[in-house]
Amino acid sequence: MAERIFIGVAWPYANGPLHLGHIAGAYLPADIFARYHRLKGNEVLMVSGSDQHGTPVTLRADSEGKSPQEVVYRYHRGFLDCWQKLGISFDLFTTTGTSNHARIAQDFFLKLLDKGYIYKDKMPLPYCHRCARFLPDRYVEGTCPNCRSPRARGDQCDDCGKPLNPADLIDGRCSICRSTPEIRDSEHFFLRLSAFSEQLKSWVQEQSHWRPNVLNFTLRYLTEGLRDRAITRDIEWGIAVPLPGFDKKRIYVWFEAVIGYLSASKEWSQSKGNSEKWRDFWQKDTRSYYFIGKDNIVFHTIIWPAMLMGYGGLNLPFNVPANEFLTLEGKKLSTSRNWAVWLPDYLERYAPDPLRYMMSANMPETSDSDFSWREFVRRNNDELVATYGNLVQRVLTFVNRNFDQCVPAAGEADAESGALLNKAESALDTVDKFLNVCRFKDSIREAMLLCQEANRYLDNKAPWKSIKEDKEAAANSIATVLSVISCLKTILYPFLPYSSGKLHNLLGFEGRIENAGWTFIRPGVGQRLPLPEHLFHKLDEVIIEKESSLLGQGSSSAK
Ligand code: MF3
Ligand code: ZN
Repeated sequence: MAERIFIGVAWPYANGPLHLGHIAGAYLPADIFARYHRLKGNEVLMVSGSDQHGTPVTLRADSEGKSPQEVVYRYHRGFLDCWQKLGISFDLFTTTGTSNHARIAQDFFLKLLDKGYIYKDKMPLPYCHRCARFLPDRYVEGTCPNCRSPRARGDQCDDCGKPLNPADLIDGRCSICRSTPEIRDSEHFFLRLSAFSEQLKSWVQEQSHWRPNVLNFTLRYLTEGLRDRAITRDIEWGIAVPLPGFDKKRIYVWFEAVIGYLSASKEWSQSKGNSEKWRDFWQKDTRSYYFIGKDNIVFHTIIWPAMLMGYGGLNLPFNVPANEFLTLEGKKLSTSRNWAVWLPDYLERYAPDPLRYMMSANMPETSDSDFSWREFVRRNNDELVATYGNLVQRVLTFVNRNFDQCVPAAGEADAESGALLNKAESALDTVDKFLNVCRFKDSIREAMLLCQEANRYLDNKAPWKSIKEDKEAAANSIATVLSVISCLKTILYPFLPYSSGKLHNLLGFEGRIENAGWTFIRPGVGQRLPLPEHLFHKLDEVIIEKESSLLGQGSSSAK
């Protein structure tokens, strides 16, 4: 029976270009998952958008001497371009700047206020005299009161992952003028998170299917006790507080950004000409997945669920398969030091599938993983080209030369051929089970094992020899491998949509692979194949040097 799957993906701040860390952390796994479920015939809604408010965007605008809106437009366009070129198949990628989103976020705010889950209070906040303003979030930097990292910002410490209040920082400094702010009271609205402690605890304890890192992090956080959190800021870039007397303040970016999952679903629903359709994914039987990097866990396993509990009548997350971090050439990614591979640069120079392959085989699923150009080239040349591409190439050219471009009859399968076909069948089954529980790395490993088996089988059968004295035997082994390849293109489609789509047609199938289903379809006898083409291309090793030497050079602001 078809299932409904909602996929929310972290909303990237529109304050800089995407890099490989974003892709490995959230966008690629989300896309693999969406493509898999669509192929299974399930109903999928995958949404996200540019996170355009808050201090990450205003700080960037300040530093460029541009308006926040200009900065947002530029990066939002860049994101859309990347999704298209990398094949990240959102049903909708919007922004938090739409009037639809503002209305829904304000409605959410007012409903929680009405129910007593939001209240007004004063809080001490750093005020910079020289800049004549309160310093929200990233406008203040200092030492983390939790782990003592000297690099903490007023919204969060990236080293220990703790969300912070600006006044919590030890020796906080204004990030614009470096002066020491004074602490003053400011009036704000607070989310009564403490009211959800028990409800959250028992809900989280039931989520035994979550990844251990996500579950443990969340439980630890709950054990330490939940503090109410300010959800408005002294800033003028953001969504207005829908109450009089707050025109110099805005709703906190994190409070409204997570509501984007709901507002984007409604926008999508409208665009489909059925304004009630979103309800299927939010109020009916649906599994909701949130793909995010590990720095966003708390917001998706505690704060957003608490907001949903308070609002009532909307589905809670089913799973939050947060990934760990990607390191680059053994070092932590750093956008400010330009220690990053920028996605627009990558996509200008290379094809999408080799990156999707590398990132899937090396996904930071249960621990951090590393991207290096050497490993990228090796995986492309040894695995994609030599193992998979070569298998396909050998068989397709053989059909071309010896069987008149048509799938030959398999005849009776001998034991070896039968065993290989069974392996293909069971690989499809195994990967089905893996993907259903978000085990991406294991899935692609299984697919590559099948490739190796097929190569061994082909070497063994050597149809290029048997064709001379026993054409039927050659036909049998070629037909067998054609079937296995057909199975591989299905298994690999969520990971390598471009090459699988191409292979689908090279095998003589009509129509798009997207409509072919998650099944093992053997090419029919006599099915006509077009002329063979390469699926992948060898990369010259010189790019290893060339690309690595660009790391850490210049700055990212030119992007
Ligand atoms: N913009 C945030 C970041 O880049 C992520 C927001 S996810 C959301 O870390 F769901 F809250 F939107
Ligand atoms: Zn200042």
